[in-house]
Amino acid sequence: MNISISPIYDMGHKASCFLLCLFINMILIIGYNKVIIKYDQAMGRCVDLKDINILGIETSCDETSASVVRNGREVLSNVISSQISLHQKYGGVVPEIASRKHVELVMPVINQALEEASMDIDGIDVIGVTYGPGLVGALLVGLSAGKGMAFALNKPLVGVHHIEGHIAANYIEHKELEPPFVCLVASGGHSHIVFIEDYDKFDIMGQTRDDAAGEAFDKIARAIGLGYPGGPLIDKAAAKGNSKAIEFPRVRFDGGSLDFSFSGLKTAVLNYLNNLEQKGEKYNIEDISASFQQAVVDVLVDNTLRAAKIRGVRNIALAGGVASNSCLRSLLKERASKEGLCVYYPKPVLCTDNAAMIACAAYFQYMKGNISDLNLNAVPGLRLGER
Ligand code: KG4
Ligand code: ZN
Repeated sequence: MNISISPIYDMGHKASCFLLCLFINMILIIGYNKVIIKYDQAMGRCVDLKDINILGIETSCDETSASVVRNGREVLSNVISSQISLHQKYGGVVPEIASRKHVELVMPVINQALEEASMDIDGIDVIGVTYGPGLVGALLVGLSAGKGMAFALNKPLVGVHHIEGHIAANYIEHKELEPPFVCLVASGGHSHIVFIEDYDKFDIMGQTRDDAAGEAFDKIARAIGLGYPGGPLIDKAAAKGNSKAIEFPRVRFDGGSLDFSFSGLKTAVLNYLNNLEQKGEKYNIEDISASFQQAVVDVLVDNTLRAAKIRGVRNIALAGGVASNSCLRSLLKERASKEGLCVYYPKPVLCTDNAAMIACAAYFQYMKGNISDLNLNAVPGLRLGER
């Protein structure tokens, strides 16, 4: 028997099937775990819009920090326990003391972060933890805590590169900021110019060949008797000094290199101090601070602007402890605005080491599907972009 279906009945049948399927899908999509799928242009892929709460853990140097961040950009808590006072009398971080203090503080700090976020551990979807670069003993404490929790609670673990975290601090502060952009990462351990092509794609365009910028600040501060950490103290003293009082060298490399070198500058300052001491003359701390700071900032700004020009981007970001420097912020802003470029930087508490930036970086890695294995190890010399 032949059954013929009229075109009108066919269309009506298809339409009702389509509506029924759509309805069932809607129930499945909205009802199941409150997940809504949406195509995210910035990420270039489908994302589920269920809130994702990430517990970030940071112990790479002398700050024990834990934070809860929702959807990568909303900080629910950011607890930072600084060990600065413990290391101050040694003029720098003592690795063994740092590790022992992290062991003591890591769980209380995590608990406080959950409490301040009004969340129990079940509300956490992902655990993000710094696994390098940094002091190996210090890294191991946070990483072990993160891995232990991920294993016991059956939550995904995302290992985060510390510098990636510093860069990500800008996403927290500036909700509209998206790759591509150029970022100057200047901290106690690093001075890098990075092209951020995508949330998980980094190209190092230049880096220090010897001392990091923050390290130079710390060493000069110690030499002129200001104490540790030197960056903020030099910044403050420089505000009362004359940046043209002493002509310190600015090192630039041939062949278009965007690399930095601060050890020559450091030696020049130390020689200047020795000369005055030998002659029995007093030196002016404010003028030395201002002249030294200007020499560091001039090259940081020059190279960063050149990098932005090379990549043809309009946005420049600052990250890392030195990004708090007032001279760096104002000079980069001033010179960038003349070239029609925008400058972004996080507030000071997000510039220095903190776990919110780690949770934020973990979010973007997680959204790209980058989940770590539970046998992840601490990598003290981890390179940016390596996984
Ligand atoms: O990012 P961070 O907390 O730790 C590392 O990953 O190294 O950076 C600490 C560094 C220290 O060297 C400190 O002296 C420097 O950042 N720093 C500053 C300022 N605030 C912190 N350097 C210059 N000016 C500042 N205002
Ligand atoms: Zn750092």
